[in-house]
Order: sequence, then structure tokens, then C-alpha cells
Amino acid sequence: MTCSSNNPLVDSLGRVHTNLRISVTDRCNLRCFYCMPAENVVFRPRHELLTFEEIERFVRVAARLGVNKVRISGGEPLVRSELPVLIRCLAKVPGIEDLALTTNGLLLAEQAEDLKSAGLQRLNISLDTLKEETFQQISRRTGLERVLEGIFAAKEAGFEKIRLNAIAIRGLTENEIVPLAKFARKHDLELRFIEFMPLDADQAWKPEEVLTGQSMREILSQAIAPLQPLSRADLSQPAVDYRFTDGRGTIGFINPISEPFCGNCNRLRLTSEGQVRNCLFSSKEWDARALLRDGDTSGHDSDDRLTQLLRDSVTAKLPAHGIGEVDFHPPQRAMYQIGG
Ligand code: 5AD
Ligand code: SF4
Repeated sequence: MTCSSNNPLVDSLGRVHTNLRISVTDRCNLRCFYCMPAENVVFRPRHELLTFEEIERFVRVAARLGVNKVRISGGEPLVRSELPVLIRCLAKVPGIEDLALTTNGLLLAEQAEDLKSAGLQRLNISLDTLKEETFQQISRRTGLERVLEGIFAAKEAGFEKIRLNAIAIRGLTENEIVPLAKFARKHDLELRFIEFMPLDADQAWKPEEVLTGQSMREILSQAIAPLQPLSRADLSQPAVDYRFTDGRGTIGFINPISEPFCGNCNRLRLTSEGQVRNCLFSSKEWDARALLRDGDTSGHDSDDRLTQLLRDSVTAKLPAHGIGEVDFHPPQRAMYQIGG
């Protein structure tokens, strides 16, 4: 068997990697404290970012190895110019069945229609609060109104199953949970709460600041209606979904800290400057850009080398992120430099 055979990307624990998350920029128009530093952010120069052609080629190779789900992220992906052009290319790659994007929503009102017609299938929009004051406290910028406009524009453009992602932080977002759940129910949006992870640029994360899924469920059950777990169709899906027993709406919890789901992880990541990571928390990266830029751009030889790089990265994947263990170190890169 050669490395170019189409065998799937299986790691030493039998985890089959079918899910690729691609960051298209490290730039962002917000400065959320759980992700970016407040000031003096040094962004990658443009020439270091993969071009759309390079990203497309990488995705074609990954798709031949069984990757069928792609999510575009950032930084904030909508600040990358002409993003719908990339979406259109990726939507045509054979084998890619699910093409999604995670955005902070600020530029969505302008772009929703173009993204939809380019072939984007699903949208996740980050929304941690419905209060402008809290929005500013978290993101160090203004803009809640524009995010809300973006959400409604996405509905208008015909996106279905729009999902809101909210970070849960103890001492900060407890009071946001119930209003967010009511908002999601009212507007028929999916909602997921994500536990705060040690991926902030300031490295200020503390375990005490994690607001667990369990404690959020208690708050929601009391304030709205009891929650009942839904059976899990897809185990690689990190969220555990619940439904309100009054029949209105479902709500998901992503609990990487209190209930790690690494055992079912099927995700790989490509950073904006072309480094493959096998985990949000990995300390090692594989340089796909060097191969993408190394001479022979169309030949099978270089596709073989990319294939081997992907296999090497998957083979080296550790069993779990290790947060909470004595030898855990947060990654050198913060969330905006990896891709959510
Ligand atoms: N912990 C958990 N989620 C985070 N995100 C950004 N930083 C963190 C963190 N430290 C989330 C954002 C967004 C997605 C891109 O990643 O809220 O929904
Ligand atoms: Fe930007 Fe998202 Fe990071 Fe906030 S979390 S600074 S919106 S990339």
C-alpha cells in the first residue's frame, strides 16, 4: 500500500478523521478576551496565508482520504476578502458533503446572500449575550446590533438550522443563559453553550471560570422548563443535546472541560498559514504550506506528500487534550491563531 491510497485517516485509537476545520485568516473585527489580546495584536502578513487555490488543493487531497465535512473559521472568516469565491470552489470538491462556517456575525448582513448562493450549507454565529454592555465587556468592541441584524439576514437568505454558539464563563455569563435560550426558542435558532477553554491569548484561563454544562442545565430547567437528553446520533459530535420538555426548542452543551469528548474526536485543523494541527491543544504542527508551495503544484508527487503529511499528523494524535493534568500546558497559539 502506498501513502496515496485512499484509505481513511485513522489514528492509533481507531478514530476516523472526516472533519476538517480551516481558518482563512487570523484577523478579527472583535477582540474577545477569551480569544485575543486586547491590543498590539500581530497578524500574519498576507503572503503567509494560504491562497484560495492552495486551500482548495488541500481540501481535494483531504477529501480523497475521506474528509467529508469542512468548516471555515478564523479569526473572523468574513474579513477575508472575497470569501464566497472560496466557498464556491470548496462546494464543488467531490466528497465534501457538508460545508459550514463559524462567524461572529458582524459582517453577515452584507454577505449572507452571497455565501448562500456560493453553496454554503450551514452557519454558526457566535453570540454570548443579548446585552450591548456585556457584549462590549467580552469583545472590547461595539456591535451587538449588527450581529443581530446578521442573524436575521442569514434567515432571510434562506439558511436553515442556524446555530448560535455562546461561551459560558462563571461569574460573567450566568445571567445571559436564560435570555439567550428564550431568544433562540423565539426565533427558531439552535443554541449551544461552550465551556470556556484555555485558549485565550492572555493565558488567564482558570478552571474556576468554567461554567459547566451541568450547572447551566440546572439554571435553564428552573427558569424555562425541564430539559431531557436527546439520544446521540453522531458520537463524534461534541455537543450533547437536550430538549425542553414543554416541546419548544433544543439546546446543546459542549463540555470539553467537564466532560471531555476526545475519545470520539474526528477533527483536523488547517491554520490560516497552512499548518495542520491534530488537536486544538496540540503542541506540534505539520507544515502543509511548504508542500503546497514546493514547485510541482499539480503533480501527483506533491499530492502524495500532502497525503503523507495528513497521515503523519493523524498518527501522532494524542488520546486526549490533557487539560487538568499536571503536565498540561496551554498551546503556544491562542484561539484566533488556530481557528475555532
Ligand atoms: N474557549 C471556548 N470557546 C472559544 N471560542 C473562542 N475562544 C474560546 C475559548 N477560549 C469560540 C468562540 C466561537 C468559536 C470560533 O470559538 O466563541 O464560537
Ligand atoms: Fe474574533 Fe471570534 Fe476570537 Fe471573538 S472569538 S476575537 S469574534 S475570532
